[in-house]
Parts: sequence; C-alpha cells; structure tokens
Amino acid sequence: MEVVIQPTAEAAADLVARIIAWELRKNPRLVLGLASGNTMESVYARLAQMHTGEGLDFSACRTFNLDEYVGLSVSHDNSYRHYMDQHLFLRVNIHQANTHLPDGMAEDLASECIRYENLIAEHGGIDLQLLGIGQNGHLGFNEPLSSFGSRTRVTVLSRATRLQNAPLFCSPDSMPQRAITMGVGTILDCRRNVLLATGPEKASIVAKAVEGPITSMISATALQLHPNCTFILDQTAAGKLKESEYHQWVFENQPEWEPFRSASLAPAEKPFRSKPTPKRPVETISDAME
Ligand code: GLP
Repeated sequence: MEVVIQPTAEAAADLVARIIAWELRKNPRLVLGLASGNTMESVYARLAQMHTGEGLDFSACRTFNLDEYVGLSVSHDNSYRHYMDQHLFLRVNIHQANTHLPDGMAEDLASECIRYENLIAEHGGIDLQLLGIGQNGHLGFNEPLSSFGSRTRVTVLSRATRLQNAPLFCSPDSMPQRAITMGVGTILDCRRNVLLATGPEKASIVAKAVEGPITSMISATALQLHPNCTFILDQTAAGKLKESEYHQWVFENQPEWEPFRSASLAPAEKPFRSKPTPKRPVETISDAME
C-alpha cells in the first residue's frame, strides 16, 4: 500500500482526478470503478472540467459503481445513479450504456448481484477502482464483518452508516436499510485501487485502515492485502498516521510520482449539489461505533 498526503482536500481530489485522467489517456477503454459520497464530488467536478477544458475523452470508457441503495428508483434524488448522472455522466461524453450500477429495484436481488459480478467479469475486470471510506471503515457498503472473500450482494446498513448518510435524506425513515454492494473480494480483484479520504473526521478510521491490524470488522483493512493500492489523503485525514513523513518523502522522491507532483492550479468547478451538504453528526457516529 502507498499513502500520498496532499496539503488540502482540493489538492487530494485533484490528484485523484489526474490519476484517473492519466489511466484513461493510456487506455481509452478503461474499465473504471466509481464511488459515491461527498468526498468524490470534487473529483467528478475536476474530471468534468478536464473533459471540457482539455478534451479528456470518456467515449470508450466503461464504468462500474460500487453500490446502490435497495428500493430507490434511478430517478430518486438519493439514488447513486442519480448522483452519478448529476456529478459526472451528464457532464462528460460517456455513453450511458457504458455506465453500470447495480439495480436496487430488481425484483430478484440475488440474481441481480450475480448479473453484476458476471458483467464485471465479461468486461475483463476493473482496471482502476475509486474508493471512499465510511466512518466505520466500510468500502462501498461492506459493513463490519463482511468477509474478505465476499462478492456483490445485498447488505443491511449498519447504524453508523445510517447515521452518516441519513442527513442526505428528507427524513431518517426514508433512508433505505439495505443496499447492493460489490464485495470486499470484488474490490480486491480490481487491478488498482485508489482510496480518497479527506477531513479530520476520517483521521481515526484512516489510521486504523492503513496501520491497524487486518480485521473484517474494518473492511478497509483488507486493502493492506492488495498489491496495488494507494490512499490519497489531505493533511487532516492523515493526521493520525505514524509514518506521514515517510509517505511524504516517497511522493516527493519516487520517479513514478513525477508526473503528478506539479499540481494543476486550475480551480475545480463547483461540484453539483442537489441539496446543501449536511453537517455530519460525527460524535453521534463515533458513539454508535463504540
Ligand atoms: C457511502 C458510500 C461509500 C462511501 C461513503 C463515504 O456510504 N457507500 O462508498 O465511501 O459513503 O462517504 P463520504 O465521502 O460522504 O464520507
């Protein structure tokens, strides 16, 4: 695992966008795994800006999202399909037919999970998977005790996750209790994983994920087993890491990071927001996890 620490959340998101753009330019038929959440909004805004300003071409790119809520239609404001359309898909030249999310409205959810896994396999697997991290360490919606061998399946959202995401819904009761998510095993099969975390509220879980013991209680610790995984953090999310200086040194000195060291100074366009970003009840979430 590698850790790259950037001075600000904006610089961290910009670096992630530039890594995606780099991979997409190298391989226009990239199979790109995508994630949702507030953290990703700046990445997608930057990619949209690169499309408009630099001609970044998504026309041959295929995408697979990590997860989708069960029971929300594609047009629902809180569905991840809606999120992806608004933040990325409708802002770049990707073909809708090349964008894939699990169908949370499928009548037969178990078959839908198998279909999704098979579709990823038919595309030759995921080249680059973008990941966020929940405050309980989940990847996608792989809640505590998800097997490291798990595949795409229906999961029941934990209390911590419901507390974290409920402010995005009109009322806590309207938040789905279940989701379809790629499994930890599905994520470990991706050729490269890039996890973005920003903000002080992520510092504890990031330290556990990067430096803590590997445990299925924290799905993100599984990434320690992945041969090509990079955590990209801002300084606040990296605040509890013991080896920050070493990580800084690697980024500043290793040749593979050379093309990414000089940050583009273009400010990202404002991410699309369907609702004001709610302030997360951080303490309540920590309480829920204790
Ligand atoms: C949701 C998604 C996760 C994401 C997490 C973090 O729970 N299912 O894939 O990592 O949100 O969200 P945020 O970036 O808003 O902290």
